[in-house]
Amino acid sequence: MINMFDPLEIRKHFPIFERFQRDGIVYLDNAATTQKPSEVINAIVNYYENSNSNVHRGVYRIGEEATDLYNRSRENIARFIGGTPEGTIFVRNATEALNLAASSLTRMLGGEGEVLVTRMEHHSNIVPWQIASSVSGIRLRMMESHTDRPLKWEDIEKDITGKTKIVSVTHVSNLLGTINDLREVGKNLHDLGIIFIVDAAQSVPHMPVNVNDLECDLLAFSGHKMLAPSGIGVLYGKPELLDRMPPYMGGGEMIKEVFEDHFTAADIPEKFEAGTPNIEGAIGLSAAVDFLKNLGMDNVRNHEKDLISYTLRREQEMNMPSLISYGPRDPEVRGGIYAFNIRKKDGGDRPFGNEVHPHDISHLADRIEGVELRSGHHCAMPQTVSLGVYATARASFYIYNTRDDVDHLFDVIGKIERRMIK
Ligand SMILES: Cc1ncc(COP(=O)(O)O)c(C=O)c1O
Repeated sequence: MINMFDPLEIRKHFPIFERFQRDGIVYLDNAATTQKPSEVINAIVNYYENSNSNVHRGVYRIGEEATDLYNRSRENIARFIGGTPEGTIFVRNATEALNLAASSLTRMLGGEGEVLVTRMEHHSNIVPWQIASSVSGIRLRMMESHTDRPLKWEDIEKDITGKTKIVSVTHVSNLLGTINDLREVGKNLHDLGIIFIVDAAQSVPHMPVNVNDLECDLLAFSGHKMLAPSGIGVLYGKPELLDRMPPYMGGGEMIKEVFEDHFTAADIPEKFEAGTPNIEGAIGLSAAVDFLKNLGMDNVRNHEKDLISYTLRREQEMNMPSLISYGPRDPEVRGGIYAFNIRKKDGGDRPFGNEVHPHDISHLADRIEGVELRSGHHCAMPQTVSLGVYATARASFYIYNTRDDVDHLFDVIGKIERRMIK
C-alpha cells in the first residue's frame, strides 16, 4: 500500500530501479514503455506457479481458477475506464485495437465513407485507415491541427462533410504532449451519426479517463505503457456498436457454432478474441490497474503536470538559443512529454538537417549522464515533418520520475550543446 505520492517511495516497488541506481540510469522513455512493479510481476508469477491453464475450456479446478482470474481482470480493467466487461476486448496493444476497429468498421460500413484523423496521430491511427482505403472505398483525410494548442470540437467541425462516417483522434499526442480537448466531441459527433474513436494510448496511463465522460464509441490503449507487461491491450467499445461490428479474426473462442460453410459468432467480447488469449497479460494489467488506482489517477496527472511545468521552466532558465522544443507551453494542456532538438549554427537555410541528430543526442545523453531518451520520428512522421525536422529527441515522464531527473536532462542537454555546437 502506497499512501503518499512520493516517486522515491514508488521506486521501491520497481526491482529495475536497483539496477538504475547501480548503473546511474535515468529512465525517461515512458511514452515508449514503462517499468513494471513487483505487484505486476508477482501477479504473473503467481498465476504461472499456481493456476496456469487455458481459459473457458477446462471444467477442472485450475481451469476454473484461470478463467476466474481472467474474467475478474477484465471486470477490474473495465471499471478503471468506466466501461463494462462485455465492452472491454483484450487485444495485444493499441495498434491491434485500432487495426481491429479499422478493419471491422470498414466492413460494417460497406467500404464507403470518410475517416478523419489529425496530423498528430501515431502511425497506428493512420496506417490501418490507409490499408482500409487500399481495399475499399473508405477515404482517409487528415484534419488541420495545431502544434501549440489542443484540438477542439471547432477544429473537427470544420472538416466534417456529408460523407464523414468516423472521426478517430488521439487523446494525448505522443510527440507534442498535447492533451486534446475532447469534451463535446462525442456528443456532437453522435448528433451527426458519426462514430467517435479515441486513441488513449497516452492518456489512460497518465490521467483519469472515463469512456462515459468522453462519450466515445471505441477507445484503444496498451498495457505496457501503464506498468503492465507487453502483449496486452484493450479495445473498449460501446456494446451496441460492438454487437453490430463483424469479427476481426476467426478461430477458436470467437464462435458459437461452426458448420462446413459458415459460422455463428460468439457474443461480445469473445467475438473479437479469437484464439487462446494473453491470460497472464490480462492478470498483469489488472494488477497494474490496482497499483495506479492505489496512487490515484488525479495524483498521477498532477505529478506529471508538475514535472512538465518544471521542465518548461528549466528550459526557459537555460536560455539556450539552439534548444528548440515543441508542443503547447501551458502545462494544463500538456502531458509529461518533452520533444526537442538542438540546432546547429551552420546549415544555412536548409529546411531539414540543421540539427544535431537526435540519435546522437540520445546516444550522448546515455553515455555522458545515463539519461535514457528516445530519438526518431516516434511513429508520428506526418507531425514530425510538419515541424520542419526529420526527427526529435524525446523525454517522457511517469510516476517514478522526479525533478532531479529533469535536472539531469538539462545538465546533459547543456553538455551536448557544448560538445556539438561550440
Ligand atoms: C498515441 C499512441 N497511439 C498508439 C500507440 C501504439 O502503441 P503500441 O505500440 O503499444 O500498440 C502509441 C505508442 O507509442 C502511442 O503513443
